Amino acid sequence: MVLSIVFGFLVLISSFGTAYGTDTDIFCLKSIKGSLEDPYNYLQSWTFNDKTEGFICKFIGVECWHPDENRVLNLNLSNMGLKGQFPRAIRNCSSLTGLDLSINKLSGTIPADISSLLTYVVTLDLSSNEFSGTIPKSLANCTYLNILKLDSNRLTGQIPGQFASLGRLKTFNVTNNLLSGRVPNFNYTKVRASYGNNRGLCGGPNLRPCQAQPSKSNTAVIAGAAG
Ligand SMILES: *[C@@H]1O[C@H](CO)[C@@H](O)[C@H](O)[C@H]1NC(C)=O
Ligand SMILES: *[C@@H]1O[C@H](CO)[C@@H](O)[C@H](O)[C@H]1NC(C)=O
Ligand SMILES: *[C@@H]1O[C@H](CO)[C@@H](O)[C@H](O)[C@H]1NC(C)=O
Ligand SMILES: *[C@@H]1O[C@H](CO)[C@@H](O)[C@H](O)[C@H]1NC(C)=O
Ligand SMILES: *[C@@H]1O[C@H](CO)[C@@H](O)[C@H](O)[C@H]1NC(C)=O
Repeated sequence: MVLSIVFGFLVLISSFGTAYGTDTDIFCLKSIKGSLEDPYNYLQSWTFNDKTEGFICKFIGVECWHPDENRVLNLNLSNMGLKGQFPRAIRNCSSLTGLDLSINKLSGTIPADISSLLTYVVTLDLSSNEFSGTIPKSLANCTYLNILKLDSNRLTGQIPGQFASLGRLKTFNVTNNLLSGRVPNFNYTKVRASYGNNRGLCGGPNLRPCQAQPSKSNTAVIAGAAG
């Protein structure tokens, strides 16, 4: 009786491990490899026929929580000449805390729902790519973020003011983009922010002050005076 309970418990634990630790992370890396163009074949060494516990932990760029468990802690594919879109399959690496895709040729937009793809991310480096479009507001929901590097891309629009609520943020870099408007109201004794070489950011350290928005009544007066 006791033995069968213990046995049932072990089966339960092992199936839990399989469902939430292992298969999903293998699927994650397989899908990412399949979704990116890899002209220099860095990811060719990622082969999926081995299947021993922890086999993905030996892949180039992959760091696991434990070397003998297929559960990815950090993924670093920096400087591999990779092309394509942001790899959405990263959501299946569901225990990931670090993603470094810097110095590649990734393009398209940063997904609007990125916070649901990278819930626990602490370090996110997308710098030196060809990402365009706006910076997603939902990044403000990645509450564990310490380091956010988006520098040297083609990002446009405003930096979401909600980023000021990222309580653990220490490094924020958006240098070399096409951003404009008011920067978040960070506590600059905690956050080291780099804003250089954008279209027109205002309201932060080493930036011009923001001009007061003309109110509707002012606009009406000006229009009235002109007419
Ligand atoms: C990958 O993630 C999606 C969304 O969370 C989920 O629906 C899907 O079942 C996952 N796939 C695997 C193989 O774990
Ligand atoms: C990723 O790897 C590159 C090259 O080895 C290294 O310079 C960089 O610091 C790594 N990124 C992270 C977040 O550890
Ligand atoms: C962030 O999280 C809040 C609370 O869960 C939610 O209401 C909001 O829609 C999320 N914002 C984005 C942009 O995902
Ligand atoms: C911010 O990014 C720029 C451009 O990539 C780089 O030169 C600079 O050193 C970065 N700043 C910090 C504080 O890391
Ligand atoms: C900014 O951060 C510093 C250092 O943590 C803290 O002492 C200060 O009270 C903070 N200022 C505000 C306005 O929150």
